[in-house]
Amino acid sequence: MYSGIIDRYRVLLPVSEDTKIISLSEGNTPLIALPKLSATISPYLTLFAKFEGLNPTGSFKDRGMTLAVTKAFEEGQQTVMCASTGNTSAAAAAYAARAGMGCYVLIPQGKIALGKLSQALVHGAKVLAIEDNFDKALCLVREICADHPIALVNSVNPYRLEGQKTAAFEIVDDLGYAPDYHALPVGNAGNITAYWKGYKEYFDSGKSANKPKMLGFQAAGAAPIVSGSPVAHPETIATAIRIGNPASWHGANNALMESCGHIDSVTDSEILAAYNMIAAMEGLFAEPASVAPVAGLCKLASQGFFTEPATIVVTLTGHGLKDPDIAVSSANTIPISLPATRDAVLQAIGY
Ligand code: F0G
Repeated sequence: MYSGIIDRYRVLLPVSEDTKIISLSEGNTPLIALPKLSATISPYLTLFAKFEGLNPTGSFKDRGMTLAVTKAFEEGQQTVMCASTGNTSAAAAAYAARAGMGCYVLIPQGKIALGKLSQALVHGAKVLAIEDNFDKALCLVREICADHPIALVNSVNPYRLEGQKTAAFEIVDDLGYAPDYHALPVGNAGNITAYWKGYKEYFDSGKSANKPKMLGFQAAGAAPIVSGSPVAHPETIATAIRIGNPASWHGANNALMESCGHIDSVTDSEILAAYNMIAAMEGLFAEPASVAPVAGLCKLASQGFFTEPATIVVTLTGHGLKDPDIAVSSANTIPISLPATRDAVLQAIGY
């Protein structure tokens, strides 16, 4: 039994035998078949969800954070810092607590989901909410970390991407091959860059016979890579990917080009429809940004993009519990208040 992604994939990661690993047993997330969703979207598709919401802090960020914090600790740093739309700050705060390190996080004021904010607070991070967006927060954090003894743990830190690439390894290990397509949401573009790196490394070392085409999806109000230029005021209900100038833009373009992939955008209403569809149809609760690729696959299928049988893995990047406000406000139902009697309950359920 492995305890976390560094333990499991140690030889493929930049650690030595002496490295003290800071882990919360992240990774080893399930690959879940989506038979009903597949049949609904296209007769050609066999879909699987890589449910990264089941990581210790509820998102894929834990894979990169275990390595970034492990290396910062090894290098003698005492504090980490990040800009975040929420999930990175939750992971940074948790792994810093685990390591006994300090943690500062910069977030866009009023634009991060409640679950994520509560995680950063409960793990003891100093949370600074700026009156601007993620892109500005990342600029500030990069400047500050460049001339202060603080480790930057955003995905511009290469250890983050090294850790995140292990999700691709797990998929190939589970399926026995790489899928035909891999679909995921794109915000700061670190994850699509990391997955492609992982798939390529497994292919180059002979551990898989093929590589997927990468499919990235951005929210329509925050789609700089799709449009080809930065978005000054990104807007979307999928606050995790409310980003106008992705740091790993080049990495994403490279992944798309090398894999012969495709990037597209989906509207907020398409995202909400996908959010409710996967929850109701397959029993999977993922946060809005996570289901952008589900919405994207619906869009591409309706345009005739898929013309032959294909296996597709969709990364559900974060758990639905991260954003309870969206869950409650977008639900098709509300709790019914009743007197505490048997008759009232029976009447309400139609007996
Ligand atoms: N999905 C979720 C749930 C995210 O939190 C993020 C990014 C992404 C997708 C996009 O991944 O940035 O690698 O392209 N969240 C970052 C954060 C920006 O601060 O938590 P990406």
